Amino acid sequence: MSRLHYYGFVLFCCFSQALSALSNKSDGSDDGHCIWYGQCHSQNSLIQNCYYNGTAKPLKDPEGLKLLAKWCPHMVSPEVSTCCDASQLKLMDSNIIIAANFLQRCPSCINNLIKHICEMSCATNQSKFIDVVSTKPDGNINSNGAYITEIDYYVTPEYMNGTYDSCKQVSVPSTGQLALDIMCGTWTSTRCTARRWFDYMGNKDTPFVPFQINYKNTDPTNRYIPANPPVTPCSRGLDENTPACSCVDCESSCPAPQPVPPPPGPFKIMGCDGYAVIMLCVFLIGSGLFLFAVFVVPHASAMADLMRGRGTDEVRAAVGRRLAGVDRSPHNTLGDNEDSPLQQSKRSSVTSDSEHEMDTHTISKMPGDFDISSSFIEKLGANTDSFLQSFFEKWGTFCAMKPWLVLFVGGCVVVALGHGIKYLKVTTDPVELWASPNSRSRIERDYYDSHFEPFYRNEQIIITSIGLPTITHNTSNGVIEFGPVFNASFLLAVLELQEAIKNIGAGTDHSFEKICFAPLRTNGQIDLSTDECAVRIIVLRRYVSPRLERTGKLT
Ligand SMILES: *[C@@H]1O[C@H](CO)[C@@H](O)[C@H](O)[C@H]1NC(C)=O
Ligand SMILES: *[C@@H]1O[C@H](CO)[C@@H](O)[C@H](O)[C@H]1NC(C)=O
Ligand SMILES: *[C@@H]1O[C@H](CO)[C@@H](O)[C@H](O)[C@H]1NC(C)=O
Ligand SMILES: *[C@@H]1O[C@H](CO)[C@@H](O)[C@H](O)[C@H]1NC(C)=O
Ligand SMILES: *[C@@H]1O[C@H](CO)[C@@H](O)[C@H](O)[C@H]1NC(C)=O
Ligand SMILES: *[C@@H]1O[C@H](CO)[C@@H](O)[C@H](O)[C@H]1NC(C)=O
Repeated sequence: MSRLHYYGFVLFCCFSQALSALSNKSDGSDDGHCIWYGQCHSQNSLIQNCYYNGTAKPLKDPEGLKLLAKWCPHMVSPEVSTCCDASQLKLMDSNIIIAANFLQRCPSCINNLIKHICEMSCATNQSKFIDVVSTKPDGNINSNGAYITEIDYYVTPEYMNGTYDSCKQVSVPSTGQLALDIMCGTWTSTRCTARRWFDYMGNKDTPFVPFQINYKNTDPTNRYIPANPPVTPCSRGLDENTPACSCVDCESSCPAPQPVPPPPGPFKIMGCDGYAVIMLCVFLIGSGLFLFAVFVVPHASAMADLMRGRGTDEVRAAVGRRLAGVDRSPHNTLGDNEDSPLQQSKRSSVTSDSEHEMDTHTISKMPGDFDISSSFIEKLGANTDSFLQSFFEKWGTFCAMKPWLVLFVGGCVVVALGHGIKYLKVTTDPVELWASPNSRSRIERDYYDSHFEPFYRNEQIIITSIGLPTITHNTSNGVIEFGPVFNASFLLAVLELQEAIKNIGAGTDHSFEKICFAPLRTNGQIDLSTDECAVRIIVLRRYVSPRLERTGKLT
């Protein structure tokens, strides 16, 4: 269907019974009167309404009443009078149905739009908000009637904005467009505004608009009161039986996203940094345990010793000797039992020397000198030290006595373990490196690859211009400024560069047409052409950072 047909809804009202000079003259009351009634001219299949300066006439036609009730239920009353006759209502019905094809997904929107059409076509007080700008004689020799060619229609900006807002997002799934892409003329939905939409609908150059309708918001002479039909936002249903428009067609119907939970505050305990408090506790408890072990435990053992009847001095001496590591094996050569760190420097000395020094050292200390109690921890350290010392001494002695055996066995072990290098596998595939085989991305990728062709790798080149003036473009929406990359000579240079890139490696087995992604190529095709390769050029304005802009160069 041609797009032109869709505009038909804007035209109104027509007639079979052209009423004429007989019509009632307005009685001059403030309630307003009709400005048209019936249809009395047709031109290029468009039908114009008869000019009529009089009061509304009763609507008797059952079909007309049905249509009035269908589209303008608020005008229906037991003794209904209108400024439109049945034939006008029929034309209005067919035109609204065409408009509804696009807007019916959103009942609130189409209802809002129909309201002003109802008011204009049938309201009994048309003269309050419609100014007849021009008429033409209807050419009927037998009548002195006229048909309407232009009107000023006063409506409030609230109505226009509200109706536009309720309709602006209504989509037309069959064309994949928005309704306003079709109904807002050259502005399309992106540049459409309420004003432009109504202007387009009232422009007699728009196909199927029978006469000029100038939508006006205010009347400077104050003779007219703008019509202000109530508007239902698209997020609200008309009544309990008509739902609100869906989220697709009405942004305000979309469920509000969950409020983002506030970021978790810093971890706090009693107003202080939680980690610091925990660390402080750990430190205090650890130090407490340590101090407990150092001071309390030896005393406890000393107490136990005391209770077993040993004298204090004796206990102290025993502890002191243990600390020095001499009481465990008093009869051994002291060189084997040097436990005290103080004596480490003397380990290498000859046994007799150590013995001598140790002796003097030990002897020089009277029992009373071992005042410092040795704790469990100190004893543990001393014992570990002496164990390690004797172990490594034995090991060292063994190795020194059988060097060739040790070297041979060691070499065998190294060679045996070195065989593992046969199984060394270096992973360089980034997919293997970074995605676990069980990860969702890996599983889905494998599924994709097994059902379709593997992914292709995109290669991209970022090109930008330097020091070119910006481009200004005069559009219907005013002057738009584009970035300098749209400069024609620059783009031609880019094209040259692109062709040169496509020719890299030409004639070799890795030429561009052999490795490129060519989705439309047939299987087994022999003549390959670079034209079949998928090359996408995306011109982004101000996409690259200033850093790139400085370094990018095109020659
Ligand atoms: C004209 O108006 C009078 C009352 O003002 C009414 O009785 C009469 O029916 C009207 N004429 C027509 C043709 O509607
Ligand atoms: C319409 O009728 C009213 C009241 O009779 C009259 O004042 C007015 O001039 C008429 N308008 C035109 C354009 O004839
Ligand atoms: C109607 O919309 C236009 C443009 O969006 C705005 O300038 C104007 O203030 C609005 N008027 C009302 C009454 O909302
Ligand atoms: C016209 O009449 C209708 C009731 O029929 C009323 O709601 C509306 O406000 C009137 N319009 C003007 C501009 O007086
Ligand atoms: C843009 O075009 C309009 C008319 O098409 C003209 O009036 C206006 O001066 C032009 N602006 C510039 C900057 O060229
Ligand atoms: C495009 O760039 C060239 C310089 O390469 C410059 O001479 C020309 O004026 C530019 N065109 C526009 C429209 O700015």
